[in-house]
Amino acid sequence: MTTPLLRVRDLTMTFPGRRARSAPVRAVDGVSFEVATGETLGLVGESGCGKSTTGRMIVRLLQPTSGSVEFGGRDIGRLSQRALKPLRTELQMVFQDPHSSLNPRQTVARIISDPLIVQGAAVAEARRRAAELMELVGLIPEHIDRYPHEFSGGQAQRIGIARALATSPRLVVADEPVSALDVSVQAQIVNLMERLQRELGLSYLFIAHDLSVIKRVCDRVAVMYLGRIVEIGAKEHLYTAPAHPYTRALLSAVPLPDPAAERTRERITLLGDPPSPAAPPPGCTFHPRCPKARDICRTEAPALRIAAAGEARQVACHFPESG
Ligand SMILES: Nc1ncnc2c1ncn2[C@@H]1O[C@H](COP(=O)(O)OP(=O)(O)OP(=O)(O)O)[C@@H](O)[C@H]1O
Ligand code: SF4
Ligand SMILES: [Mg+2]
Repeated sequence: MTTPLLRVRDLTMTFPGRRARSAPVRAVDGVSFEVATGETLGLVGESGCGKSTTGRMIVRLLQPTSGSVEFGGRDIGRLSQRALKPLRTELQMVFQDPHSSLNPRQTVARIISDPLIVQGAAVAEARRRAAELMELVGLIPEHIDRYPHEFSGGQAQRIGIARALATSPRLVVADEPVSALDVSVQAQIVNLMERLQRELGLSYLFIAHDLSVIKRVCDRVAVMYLGRIVEIGAKEHLYTAPAHPYTRALLSAVPLPDPAAERTRERITLLGDPPSPAAPPPGCTFHPRCPKARDICRTEAPALRIAAAGEARQVACHFPESG
């Protein structure tokens, strides 16, 4: 078996409570997965389930509380900032809100070339490369001395992508890269990301709450609930036969393109909001909202395990749906 590009094991992040004496927040609670070279793994789940925190730990914007992050077979989770510097070039992040993630006082030339200058490139060389990257992501290189506010949301996200690609990364963590954009622009950015993946051999961890976008771009999908992965597997398996009640509920809320199918489909409405990660329920943390919950669910947490023989898909449920 070849070594995966990224292997995350038992990753955990506990934030101190926001107020004095409030309970610590276990935002990510023992997350494990792998991303192969050239693959796109989708990470989905409701707001606050820990998607961004997971992504930020992988690119080391956050130091994990525990667990390991192996990149190219090397544990990078605990490297010092200095030891991490050469590896930073290989792991990059694209953010949700393109305008707020770009410094409004810097020109595009500066924004895109900064990561190269940090790595020791000469200013003229970095500027030349920035112009090349603008062309690669579908921007006009002559606009290199403009400021972010002179670009539309979609164009600004192209700048964010060009900045992420400046150091020729192998893995890009894209945190809701299209959620803030108009639907028509979303498709253009998704197309761009797919083309860049083919041309540059990139791997993506693609974070989104929109299951239609995930279906379009991902090879495999991980579903998160309250800091944990509850189902992970090939996209075809998850979308055609979701095994976890939470995955089923999320999918049942996605509109179907065929109006007849849309009228007759089963809809599963989840009760209430997700509980706070500062006070997760005992047993299976999904039990207060699960239509299938039984006694054991209230006391015993289900482990993430292979649900059906011969399938790579894993599910954390005492009573997974089969077939
Ligand atoms: N710096 C922090 N300090 C304390 N709690 C935090 C911090 N960052 C995130 N959290 C909490 O951790 C949990 C997970 O947050 P995270 O941003 O990772 O979720 P998310 O899945 O990305 O949500 P969204 O879809 O809204 O972006 C939330 O309960 C959040 O309030
Ligand atoms: S373990 Fe029980 S409560 Fe949890 S998802 Fe499965 S059936 Fe529902
Ligand atoms: Mg987020």
